[in-house]
Amino acid sequence: MKNTKLLIFFLLLFAAGCASGPEKSSEMQDTQVDSLYLTIKAQGKQAAGLSFSALSQRLQHAIGERGLEGALAFCNVHALPITDSLSEAMNVSISRTALRIRNPENAPDELDRQIMERFQQMIAQLGKASDTLVTNLDGDMVYMAPIITLPACLQCHGVPEVEIKPQTMDLVRALYPDDRAIGFREGELRGMWKVKFNAGQGRIQ
Ligand code: HEC
Repeated sequence: MKNTKLLIFFLLLFAAGCASGPEKSSEMQDTQVDSLYLTIKAQGKQAAGLSFSALSQRLQHAIGERGLEGALAFCNVHALPITDSLSEAMNVSISRTALRIRNPENAPDELDRQIMERFQQMIAQLGKASDTLVTNLDGDMVYMAPIITLPACLQCHGVPEVEIKPQTMDLVRALYPDDRAIGFREGELRGMWKVKFNAGQGRIQ
């Protein structure tokens, strides 16, 4: 169903772009494109929201059960499998990235960088950044949403010695020798959710 909608979305985009018919029908197409755009964006938002809930619930649980260092080790092993299994269940690719990353597997590409730089500008100018739906170079639609640094994040992503305890920092360095995800301040952009819809897999059922 979702793939069918996506296909229709692209067809409409194409049709709207090449419309030469009467004014009225292209207006209708615009409305349909708008509503499909909103539908896909809402699906992206839902996938990112569910992933955020799953990760933060598991993180809170791990901190309670095993303390901060135990939780760090838990994230190291489970963060990617958690988003991977949600991706599979929802038939999309859910991931996190950042301009300064901890896990090299979360490295941003050029488009990710551009969007995150725009999020940073929005935060600087307006105090907040809004989510967006873009098309990547492969033609896939990607939902992107800012991840803001909250006070609870600082114990693992804040300033070493000030917010990050030395024993936590030791473990971060041991697990992630190239870690750059420290020194964040509350309210700053920590990273971005990405939900990729695989248009290439589209099949009409
Ligand atoms: C217990 C320590 C801990 C806490 C608390 C924590 N993180 Fe992380 N964070 C990690 C670890 C470890 C990774 C690397 C996970 C992996 O290997 O995929 C990570 C990775 C990330 C990433 C993926 C990009 C990257 O740098 O690899 C984002 C985004 C992120 N964290 C945001 C947050 C936010 C936002 C909060 C607060 C709501 C938070 N984290 C709280 C330990 C933590």
